Amino acid sequence: MKTIQTICLGALLLTIGMVNAAAPFGGDADVKYAKNLWTTMVNSSYAGKDSIMSQPYKGQHPHGAILDTIRGPINIDGRLLNIIIKRNYGGPGVSKETVANDPEKYLKAVTVMLKRPGYDAETKDWFWVKYKADGSIDTNPKGMKLAGKVAKGKPKGCIACHTAAPGGDMVFTSN
Ligand code: HEC
Repeated sequence: MKTIQTICLGALLLTIGMVNAAAPFGGDADVKYAKNLWTTMVNSSYAGKDSIMSQPYKGQHPHGAILDTIRGPINIDGRLLNIIIKRNYGGPGVSKETVANDPEKYLKAVTVMLKRPGYDAETKDWFWVKYKADGSIDTNPKGMKLAGKVAKGKPKGCIACHTAAPGGDMVFTSN
């Protein structure tokens, strides 16, 4: 009896392990990478106090009332990668002017696309992250961290929606 229980438990743990490994995003490696990325963004003036910003503009669902988007090279482990950073602003009194004057006050989220050559050809090698204003990684309603290949399925994740972007590179806005 004992043996059967042990085998069952083993099989159960193995299954859970496989499900975890198969999770397309929010796994340990993705979370670790996203945490390091935030630190690098802060050190490169792409995030945090006095970071580079664009002219704020009126946004569209789901990205927030007022947005600002910047793009450029970022040095990750000695390699220059392309990053697109969209900051999402909201809250009472939010407008293009108030955000331009005091971005930190209205910042709600920071969504990032980082091009990592060799990461995943099918999704154009983009690494997706959604940070909260304080730089911690946001989660979906299931509690999964929004870092990595987020997400092809429903409810519409980054990839599911960005697939519709013109030009086949999953990017909506061009320079
Ligand atoms: C339901 C559709 C939808 C979902 C879901 C979505 N986006 Fe977007 N995203 C857009 C649209 C539309 C734009 C261009 C709009 C704009 O800039 O005003 C955009 C723009 C962006 C940009 C600027 C580059 C570009 O494509 O123009 C980044 C970065 C970005 N999104 C990241 C993310 C991340 C990360 C997620 C998931 C956490 C996500 N998006 C989820 C629709 C979506």
